[in-house]
Amino acid sequence: MSIAVRRATVQDAAAYARIMGDPGVYPGLMQMPYTSEELWRARLVENSAPGKTDLPLAAELDGAVVGAAGLHPAGISPRRRHVLLLGISVLPEAQGHGVGSALMAALCDYADRWAGVLRIELGVYTDNARAIGLYKKFGFEIEGTLRGYAMRDGQFADTFAMARLHPNQPRIGGA
Ligand SMILES: CC(C)(COP(=O)(O)OP(=O)(O)OC[C@H]1O[C@@H](n2cnc3c(N)ncnc32)[C@H](O)[C@@H]1OP(=O)(O)O)[C@@H](O)C(=O)NCCC(=O)NCCS
Repeated sequence: MSIAVRRATVQDAAAYARIMGDPGVYPGLMQMPYTSEELWRARLVENSAPGKTDLPLAAELDGAVVGAAGLHPAGISPRRRHVLLLGISVLPEAQGHGVGSALMAALCDYADRWAGVLRIELGVYTDNARAIGLYKKFGFEIEGTLRGYAMRDGQFADTFAMARLHPNQPRIGGA
């Protein structure tokens, strides 16, 4: 099986809607039911506007888009410019083949080597063992528990706040 990771474009709106609208995916995210291609087209257009620093990625497994992931600014305050927020999702039928790992490797490389980021943050439901395992594999640590953080399928669900600090903070290079 071949995995390719690339920047997502507006042409990926249908694939994004398929992934984020999958009942095996959106309960694990902060997404809502009844998403649509139009909604994702608008978001992808917005993300690619000049000056935007969001990084939306798409992952292809044997040529079909099965994964989506991204890094996003943590807010507008200049004091949080060293932080990016991470999101990731893979279609259920494509999980367990390394697509999530390929996306995480690309996001961490981008943050560490190109974006000058110190800290990557994310939230994950405390019972999402697969995602927590994936994040730990890439150096993320649990920093705390947020009780009743989000409504999920009729219940207020707890989440972990996880973060990864740059493993080898850059210095001034050259002679
Ligand atoms: C989390 C998710 C992105 C993982 O994607 P994936 O393509 O299955 O990931 P991979 O195949 O690369 O597996 C990644 C790692 O997950 C971990 N993992 C997998 N199953 C696990 C389990 N049952 N328990 C603990 N860790 C597990 C392992 O560390 C594994 O790496 P390894 O195979 O090298 O040991 C995917 O399950 C998903 O999209 N879930 C639904 C949406 C979601 O919950 N997103 C996260 C929101 S915070």
